[in-house]
Parts: sequence; structure tokens; C-alpha cells
Amino acid sequence: MKVEGRPRHTIEPLPGRRAVQILDQTLLPHAIVWRELATAAEAAHAIRVMQVRGAPLIGATAAHGLAFALAADPSDAALATAYELLLATRPTAVNLRWALDRVRARVLPLPPAARADAAWAEAAQICADDVATNAAIGRHGLELFRAVLAAKVSSSPAAERPVLNVLTHCNAGWLGCVDWGTALAPVYQAHDAGLPVHVWVSETRPRNQGASLTAWELTQHGVPHTLIVDNAAGHLLQRGLVDLCIVGADRVAANGDVANKIGTYLKALAARAHGVPFYVALPLSTFDPTTADGVRDIPIEQRSAREVTHAVGNDANGARAEVLLTTATTSARNDAFDVTPAALVTALITERGACPATQADLARLG
Ligand code: MRU
Repeated sequence: MKVEGRPRHTIEPLPGRRAVQILDQTLLPHAIVWRELATAAEAAHAIRVMQVRGAPLIGATAAHGLAFALAADPSDAALATAYELLLATRPTAVNLRWALDRVRARVLPLPPAARADAAWAEAAQICADDVATNAAIGRHGLELFRAVLAAKVSSSPAAERPVLNVLTHCNAGWLGCVDWGTALAPVYQAHDAGLPVHVWVSETRPRNQGASLTAWELTQHGVPHTLIVDNAAGHLLQRGLVDLCIVGADRVAANGDVANKIGTYLKALAARAHGVPFYVALPLSTFDPTTADGVRDIPIEQRSAREVTHAVGNDANGARAEVLLTTATTSARNDAFDVTPAALVTALITERGACPATQADLARLG
């Protein structure tokens, strides 16, 4: 994807150094600031405060964090300490554990002196794989987009040129990955292929990943979109203004249940009520066969009540400002994710193709 017209990745190695730079997502869309990470503690901090976020990018950053730790101390003890530090940063996105396990499995059989190079190479490979995986998700998703648009065209008056209206939630785009995105990969490929695509961007309170991140990256790529408040989705679906929904995932359980940003479940319910397809795009690294039942077993991150009682943005002078929305004593609860039961998902779109969200289909793909 392009940032200010230049092709970039959200995490990039710094030439000749054992360090990376990340695009600080807490400052978007107002400022484009790249931050250097060179230690496990810095990588853990970037994930914890959400300078990087989105399941695949959390994994890619954690993998680099482990590589930084091994460059400082390649012992088994240091590996275990860094693994635990990074794993504790965020609980729901399973790509975090998947990436840490992948790097650890690569380095554990090696003598300590060989571990840092191997971990660095594995972290780089995780990033390269993410780019290829998401491009493949985009191709499979594009086929579904074409089918939905073709059905709309065939039921529209001949003189009309219908637009494909896509609803998404949170940010499952380029910014949540190394490149392309998951849910937004088919959007970009559809746009690039000349399909008339328009995206409804759900703001995604309380951290506003839709308003601040998805709208920003769609603008960078020139994709037509409109921001809506989270509560507008049901209304738009009811009015026939949405042709398909597509979201990303933080973890998909063995039974096909999908954990994703809070608010996803309500959109899936509304989509089902109005007969609109609800797609979930994910790399297979987001599939967690060790979690049997998503609704029952997926851990849901609890975040600060302050994110709910306050809003953060830039004031008229471009200075960062935080305002209180409630009385000073209002208490709030902040579940960061919810779980959409598999029965509400029309199809999962992975790098190996689309399939129903059933245990058998997932087992076959995974
Ligand atoms: O809390 P976040 O911003 O990390 O949550 C991100 C999401 O819920 C995304 O939809 C998901 O991780 C997929 S990102 C490609």
C-alpha cells in the first residue's frame, strides 16, 4: 500500500541494523510518525499501547521482539523471559502466540550463537508470508465480490451501473497487517480491477479504528468510502444500502466462531436479519484449533474504562486533545472484542480459499 504515494509496509527493517521501524498508529490520521524498535521491551510496549495493532501485525512485531531479545542474550532463559513478556501484551489475537511459537520452534534446536540470525530471518519470513497470504485472501475475496456485484447488476434496471456497497468494521486493512490487509484486501483488488466499490466504514468506538485508520488508508489508496457511526449499520442494512459485510478476525475457534472487534457480532446479527452475506477474512495463522468453542473459550481483552468515558483527537490547532464525555464519576466497562457465532458467518475467506465456518471445513484448510 502507498503512504503519501510511496509503497510502504507497516513494519520495515532498518538497513544494516538489527532494528525495525513501525508506523505509529496512535497518531493517525493526523501525523505520520515512524518509530524505531530495537529491543523486546520496545516491541512489547508498541503492541501494548497499540502503536501497532491488528492480529497479523501484532504477530509480526512480536516475532521481531523475540529476535531483538536473542540478539542481546541467546540463552534459553532469555528466550523464555522475552516470550512471556511479549505473550502478555494482548490476550485475544492468537497470531501473537502463533508468531512467537514459530520463532521459538526455529531457534530452540540451534546452538545459542546461531539463534539471533535465525530469529531475525524467521521474523522477516513471517512478514513476507503475511504479504503473500493477504494478496491471496484478496484474490479469493474478489471472486465473491464479483459474484455479489453480478447478482446486483442482473436484478437492476439496464440503464443503471450499480455500485457494490461493502460494510466493514474496525481496521482489518493494510494497517492491521504488513501489507494489503485481510478484509480490505478484496476491496483494494476490486478497486484496482475497476469494480465500482464503495465502503461503509464503521467508526469503531471507543478507539475509532474505523474513523482514524480505515478511512485514512482507503483515502491513501483512493477507494470511495463513507464514515458511519457504529449504530448506523442496522439501519443501512435494513434500507438495502449494504450488499455485503466483510470483517477481519483476531481468533477463529475450532468450531468456526469468530472473535473480532467489539460490535462485530451486532453487525452479523443485522446482516443475517436482512439476508446480506457476512464474510470474515483471515490468514490461517488466526485459526486456533486449540480453542474448541469461541463463544465460551476465547479470552476477551478488557481495556481501560477511560477509553469509553473520554474521546481523543486533535484540536483546531492540531494539538492532541482528550475530552471527558461523561460525568467524572461515571463507571464504564470496555470489552475490546466480541465473538460472532459461526452460524452467522456466510464464509471464511483464507489464503487457501473461501469455506463455510464449520469445524470440518476449517480442519481441512488448517
Ligand atoms: O484492537 P485492535 O485494533 O488490535 O483490533 C483489531 C481487529 O479487531 C481486527 O479486525 C483484526 O485484528 C484483524 S486485523 C487484519
